[in-house]
Amino acid sequence: MVKLITSTTELRTERQSDSKIGFVPTMGNLHQGHISLLERALSEYQTVYFSIFVNPKQFGPNEDFNRYPRTLENDVKLIEETAGRFPNSKVVVYSPKDPKEVFPENDNQTISVHGLSTDLEGKIRPGHFDGVATVVYRLFELIKPDTAYFGLKDYQQYLVIRQMVKDLALPIKIQGMPIIRELAGLAMSSRNQYLSPEQKQASLLISRTLKEVEKKIKSNLAETKTYINETLKDPNWDYLEMRDAETFSPDISQSKNITVVAVYRMGTTRLLDNIQVSR
Ligand code: PAF
Repeated sequence: MVKLITSTTELRTERQSDSKIGFVPTMGNLHQGHISLLERALSEYQTVYFSIFVNPKQFGPNEDFNRYPRTLENDVKLIEETAGRFPNSKVVVYSPKDPKEVFPENDNQTISVHGLSTDLEGKIRPGHFDGVATVVYRLFELIKPDTAYFGLKDYQQYLVIRQMVKDLALPIKIQGMPIIRELAGLAMSSRNQYLSPEQKQASLLISRTLKEVEKKIKSNLAETKTYINETLKDPNWDYLEMRDAETFSPDISQSKNITVVAVYRMGTTRLLDNIQVSR
């Protein structure tokens, strides 16, 4: 059963009738990456709350808030198809029409995870991770999930949320989920639809580069750094960096798990990707 709720009052009432729940927060325009989160949630909980909310607080003034695709009807269809494969499941889709449903008027609350939120992606998009942490905290407050599922494609976002939950001692398990890729290797993202077929083809460079970095890390770290510096001569890379997968520190000399995080600009579209490497 899938139930669509658009008001917070209704959401609060609904939530009272459910005990243990999984939660998948999204901004909609669903693709297989989101569906993999829902599938995992439904394999662990009979009841799953699924939010679809394009959060204005995480977009900068020159970003794509207005043109971000809103495809609720299609999203609900996809959710229904998925839920249909899990007998006796219940999915509550919370899709508030007005941001005031999520952020009450005169709401001044901002959640900020210091350090992580202003590093790398946060440096390029000032305020972005505060917007993310604030909306996720607010959704957690409303939905009170036992487990929340996040895609690891947005690796720094995942770390920010994990840190927020730890700092505020929220009783919520954060489950990171592997990146889902198109057949040729491009990480799935709602932003891929902005790409022309030629740009899409050219974007395969990102996953290929990450694979190459992975191979090099396993053999020789110094050579990897040289390879990365050479690669970065292409000015379309916003960054391509090795970080400790737990702490996100750039000092990886002792790291057992490394995350290689990358953003490549294809025209006006920023494509995020990463790869996890153990050694
Ligand atoms: O990853 C996303 O889709 C968004 O950043 C999130 C976590 C739903 C918050 O708006």
